[in-house]
Amino acid sequence: MSEINEILQKSHFSHADIVHMLGLQGKEKTCLFERAAQVKARGIGNRVYFRGLIEFSNICRKNCLYCGIRLDNRNVRRYMLSDDEIISAARFAAENRYGSLVIQSGEVESKSFTGRIENLLRNIHKATGGELRITLSCGEQEHETYKRWYESGAHRYLLRIESSNPELYARLHPRDNDHKFLRRIGCLNSLQETGYQVGTGVMIGLPFQTMDDLAGDLLFMEQFNIDMVGMGPYLEHNGTPLYELRHLLMPREERFQITLKMIAVLRIMMNDINIAATTALQAIDKMGREKAIKVGANVIMPNITPGNHRDDYLLYQDKPCTDENASDCKTCLEARIALADNEIAYGEWGDSGHFRKRNR
Ligand code: 5AD
Ligand code: SF4
Ligand code: FES
Repeated sequence: MSEINEILQKSHFSHADIVHMLGLQGKEKTCLFERAAQVKARGIGNRVYFRGLIEFSNICRKNCLYCGIRLDNRNVRRYMLSDDEIISAARFAAENRYGSLVIQSGEVESKSFTGRIENLLRNIHKATGGELRITLSCGEQEHETYKRWYESGAHRYLLRIESSNPELYARLHPRDNDHKFLRRIGCLNSLQETGYQVGTGVMIGLPFQTMDDLAGDLLFMEQFNIDMVGMGPYLEHNGTPLYELRHLLMPREERFQITLKMIAVLRIMMNDINIAATTALQAIDKMGREKAIKVGANVIMPNITPGNHRDDYLLYQDKPCTDENASDCKTCLEARIALADNEIAYGEWGDSGHFRKRNR
């Protein structure tokens, strides 16, 4: 017990400290979780921000080896929502006082895509009276594109690093010019330079991934000064090449537990960032998101994608909420967040406190 207490006294965790904490079990693990809950309660309060998630399109030019909607998966019904569908989902978010939207898609790089998103951003702001903060999650793009989207009203961007270890990154992606670790880093820098609140994240429990890799991921996030994070367990999908390596995976429950520890440690390291309780957690444990909220997460992304396309945005199997609609998810989450003794911060943007501080 004394070693964890000693580590928790420190103002800065070393790589070895983090590896130690990711391995905790039993009482010592509880001790870590309690500290993370305390840091959250004191720093940002027991509150959760909503981000209405619109899965705008599953068309993707990439072939990440883990992802169910990769280009080469021919068993995916490809779709792109119409502007009207997106704007009505945005209206739902505004009327229900969600505060923010996340617009997510597979990766497309083209002039027409850039222009379409630009128009869409302006139209959403018009339709909702500027009430919503908008986050984009549309992959790697040119600096100029990021700038144009920022100027059209997107002020947050999510781009997961997937793994901060370049060698592991290379094993998870095709070895070609479209899947370069350094471009991913370049994009994160470019987003930060443009003025976005920048979110990143990793998958946890990947084949070949070690505790050293995961500790490195948290230190990467700290060094990069991220404002937001989404970390979730890796979940195998049978339509992907990585599925062949499923015999190398740790059991799902273990991936889940390590994810909770990653969230707890990061909350202690960075007390003012926004941490999402990701949907992938709930694919493993029915109470997955609530558990994440209890150990430091403060953001939830209720799915507001029109129901008929939810089945088609399957990054991984067993994805929750595919048979539900936006109102079902709202009611469900209200009950769940109350169970986690947290309050939903309706009507608030919920900007990252870290972003505010780093721009002072
Ligand atoms: N399991 C878990 N997360 C996945 N993602 C993609 N495929 C999977 C999977 N099989 C995550 C990636 C990506 C985000 C949009 O979804 O981290 O950045
Ligand atoms: Fe495309 Fe993103 Fe899936 Fe990679 S993870 S294949 S970029 S949707
Ligand atoms: Fe979608 Fe529970 S959050 S059904």
